[in-house]
Amino acid sequence: MRRWLIVSLISCLCLQVFYPLGILSEPVKGVSESKKISLKSEKITLPQDSKLFTGIGSKHLNQYCLICHSEEYLNSQPALDKKMWEKEVLKMKSSYGAPIPTEDVEVIADELYHRFGAPVIQKK
Ligand code: HEC
Repeated sequence: MRRWLIVSLISCLCLQVFYPLGILSEPVKGVSESKKISLKSEKITLPQDSKLFTGIGSKHLNQYCLICHSEEYLNSQPALDKKMWEKEVLKMKSSYGAPIPTEDVEVIADELYHRFGAPVIQKK
């Protein structure tokens, strides 16, 4: 017990003396080498992805969905019924932070169903 106490005290002392001197700590990259960093501009060309939805009901889709997705991406989704599209819109809003006002969720789901809808399958 006594030996453990002495070892602990010595360890504390060592930490207090050597840590501030930087002997025990690893050199922080970027801090000591910050003078070596030089930033330069790069020119890149992003793929053209500027297609918009057209026609009836395109306003909301362009406004709210194309913030994160391309028109092609949404066009390639499987057909869903209206309830499922509504769930999808709510998921974009709550999980991914899409800035969709609650009062527009149903309108958007309608528009999506109108474009990419699937008939509701009745269970027997
Ligand atoms: C803030 C960004 C953002 C906005 C705005 C957004 N989404 Fe998404 N969406 C995502 C992310 C992130 C994913 C997940 C992508 C992945 O898993 O590869 C996703 C995935 C999807 C998927 C694939 C299925 C799924 O659930 O993962 C569909 C369909 C979809 N979004 C539709 C929409 C529609 C319709 C709108 C407009 C009402 C919309 N999104 C708006 C971020 C967004």
